Amino acid sequence: MHEAWGDLINEISGCTKCRLCENRTNVVPGEGNPRAKIMFIGEGPGRDEDMQGRPFVGASGQLLDRMIHAIGMERTEVYIANIVKCRPPMNRNPEPDEAAACMPYLRNQFKLISPQIIVLLGKVACRYVLQDESPISRLRGNWILRKGVWFMPTYHPSALLRAPEKKREAWEDFKMIKAKLMEVSHRGEV
Ligand code: URA
Repeated sequence: MHEAWGDLINEISGCTKCRLCENRTNVVPGEGNPRAKIMFIGEGPGRDEDMQGRPFVGASGQLLDRMIHAIGMERTEVYIANIVKCRPPMNRNPEPDEAAACMPYLRNQFKLISPQIIVLLGKVACRYVLQDESPISRLRGNWILRKGVWFMPTYHPSALLRAPEKKREAWEDFKMIKAKLMEVSHRGEV
């Protein structure tokens, strides 16, 4: 692994910047291809992720895997990370100060990967990455271009598990993501 990656992962793994470090079993820094064209950003680790130290390995992770397959990719080809790297108690949403403490890690991951597309999974990811408090039902399905990077907000997989009727819209979003991936690959756009 690139030295900068090793340093970053070590720093994340030893982090005590916020109260979430107190109850964690494992830190969940993120995983995938460090040169991925596409990055997925969730909210924070749940119970399974905390146990294993890996993002999206529980029920919502299985659905995310299927969504990644739907765009013709494998999990190992993309990069998956979260807003916070430690599990919030009882899976509550991260508090603003917890997200603020953790966001520099995500920014550094983003800088090292330099993806062309970022898929924001759910409202919490949109709130902290885009600083947009709009409902996910309004944000989803619309590309946002910032500094040459394409952002696509979509439903969090756990929302799809709770409300399967939203899967049709999520599928529309993933068709747009697949098309954008092909577009940026052909253009070699940065
Ligand atoms: N939900 C998330 O937002 N992230 C995970 O890693 C797992 C579940």
